[in-house]
Amino acid sequence: MSPPNIRALLASTAAQSDITVQGWVRTRRDSKACTFIELNDGSCLRGIQVVADLSLPCASLYPHILTGASVRVKGDLVQSPGAKQAFEVLAKDVELLGEADGTYPLQKKGHTPEFLRTIAHLRPRTNLLSSVFRVRSRMAFAIHRFFQERDFFYIHTPIITSSDCEGAGEMFRVTTLPQGSSAKPETDFFGKPAFLTVSGQLQGETFACALSRIYTFGPTFRAENSNTARHAAEFWMIEPEMAFFDLEADMSLAEENVKYLLRALFETCSEELEFFNKFIDKDLISRLQHTLDEPFQRVSYTDAVEILLKSGRAFEYPIEWGHNLQSEHERFLAEEHFKSPVTVFSYPKSLKPFYMRQNDDGKTVAAMDVLVPGIGEIIGGSQREERLGLLEAAMQSHGLDVESYRWYSDLRRFGTVPHAGYGMGFERFLMFATGVSNIRDVIPFARTPGHADF
Ligand code: 4AD
Ligand code: MG
Repeated sequence: MSPPNIRALLASTAAQSDITVQGWVRTRRDSKACTFIELNDGSCLRGIQVVADLSLPCASLYPHILTGASVRVKGDLVQSPGAKQAFEVLAKDVELLGEADGTYPLQKKGHTPEFLRTIAHLRPRTNLLSSVFRVRSRMAFAIHRFFQERDFFYIHTPIITSSDCEGAGEMFRVTTLPQGSSAKPETDFFGKPAFLTVSGQLQGETFACALSRIYTFGPTFRAENSNTARHAAEFWMIEPEMAFFDLEADMSLAEENVKYLLRALFETCSEELEFFNKFIDKDLISRLQHTLDEPFQRVSYTDAVEILLKSGRAFEYPIEWGHNLQSEHERFLAEEHFKSPVTVFSYPKSLKPFYMRQNDDGKTVAAMDVLVPGIGEIIGGSQREERLGLLEAAMQSHGLDVESYRWYSDLRRFGTVPHAGYGMGFERFLMFATGVSNIRDVIPFARTPGHADF
């Protein structure tokens, strides 16, 4: 059996003899009779204190045990006389696994996130990033739990695709043709142009129209050249798709989903939450608690535009009906007007992709976006157009080749059903959940314009 990690040792209820603990040295300091090593293994935020006597045979190693070094300690877990911790390890032997010299970049506390991005291979060893990634893992697990508990099936939709789901033309090309080749796409690997997917939705719909409730949770790619704190070229998206759901049911599920994850966050990540609240965002816990306790506000796009027009605000991008809501508008609605998450629905059809269900007014579609304070949009979804004639008309007006989407329109040709779904940006959700303000700091290795390092 592998030795217990530091989280398990710190959770002990009694002293234990002959344990092994291993990890990376955060700090080491000497007293007259012993050396104190603060050891962290990433299993939890806190580290464990190792007390190693200068009379031990291994004492000659102590001067080489510097910040960043890896060590294995054999000893006893004992009640600590110090006030800071309940238990500490009284060493019988310390083994230096890997030295780290004075050039180790994480010497002092308090590095900026910008600096830490330049050492993305070492930054998980900091309190901030290790906390973010523990939260990320637990939230990913909670997402599966949420859907599995509700009879959703997890579908692995393809990463390579020939369809542009969002119709924005922001796709990365996948090709085996030599660079600069002018060869026809028919001679390429797939016999036609292929891309990295921007969304698993279209393929997800085919499975929802068979298994009723499905979700995807995987990487998505967008070649949009927006260098903002909330856009990444590679990000993870959760996309549920439900047969027999209308927009109303879709919005309710999205709200339930966010709240479920926040409850799981409070239950499984309380230490990390307290850390973020102390060092990243002093309002985090109260904002998340408020989000949990109150119903999300709902407002139509048309009413939202009215609110923005009446706000008297001088927005950088002036708003009028028919214009996209910019991040400043979304944040005004969530942060200042409603002071809560808000679901905006029924957007002008000219702003939205071909697959959204047309409303009876002929001008709007059954779309919805969930906007949250501090970030803006974290979820985008809709009821889908299930009427073949209207779908094909929308494809044509969006300039799509109806024939190459025949598999998609077949779902309307054979046993069509009302259905709906949404996509939640996992990193956007994590920014909301942690208070971390840049998407580059909630994904292990960020891919953004000009950056694909590590
Ligand atoms: O609103 P979007 O573009 O919707 C779709 O892709 C639909 N096909 C989803 C569906 O209905 N199944 O993207 C969904 C979410 C956004 O709300 C946002 O949270 C996130 O994906 N997102 C991004 N996150 C990080 N970087 C980017 N460049 C993102 N683009 C979208
Ligand atoms: Mg969107």
